[in-house]
Amino acid sequence: MPITTCIFDAYGTLFDVTSAARAAAEEPWPEQFAAHWQKIAAEWRTKQLEYTWLRAAAGQHSDFWQVTEDGLDWALEAMSLSVPGLRERLLQLYWELDAFPEVPEMLSALKSAGLSTAILSNGSPAMLEGAVSSAGISHMLDEVLSVEQVGVFKPHPSVYDLVEERFGCARGDVLFVSSNGWDVCAAAGYGFRTAWVNRAGAPVDRLWGQPDVMLDDLTQIPQVANEQVAQ
Ligand code: LAC
Repeated sequence: MPITTCIFDAYGTLFDVTSAARAAAEEPWPEQFAAHWQKIAAEWRTKQLEYTWLRAAAGQHSDFWQVTEDGLDWALEAMSLSVPGLRERLLQLYWELDAFPEVPEMLSALKSAGLSTAILSNGSPAMLEGAVSSAGISHMLDEVLSVEQVGVFKPHPSVYDLVEERFGCARGDVLFVSSNGWDVCAAAGYGFRTAWVNRAGAPVDRLWGQPDVMLDDLTQIPQVANEQVAQ
């Protein structure tokens, strides 16, 4: 059976999570922010993800906006950055993150090939709606699936179940694409075909599944979807 459905993680995969801090670094904030924006962006992301895993493990769900705010507050305090208005500006920019440059053409090629396409993300429906419309890609996505439908973050299997519930396809008919190593390993263990967009050249996570394919960016996804034969 060929792949029928291409499912994308959102943050870090379609949307560049560092673009909020990068854009703010171009604005007239204190030099300490401009000098350290990359570290702040990295710690913001790390804490945001850690909070999703901890909340999922402890059964203490709150939506992705809450953990996004909490992660930023931790990162700013760790850098002793208390600048009036900066927190609010960074959060505002998170609603309109840049899509990676290859995204529109890649999605368009998948649609031309007759595949179903969707996002499956920790993001809240409102956050995802903001990012998708700001990137101008809503017409190339059949669905935007949020963990809010099940009230627990990835990699809980009930999140991955949303794909079959929506598209009625078998796990092996799905190509799941993520830049997050832990997400792609969990999705592989779940039974999806998987492509890891390893932009940072990181080692493979030691988890219960392994990605089928590793790529530098999203450009080759239509070709991978065409070549991967479901088992
Ligand atoms: C998401 C996070 C994991 O979009 O980046 O689900």
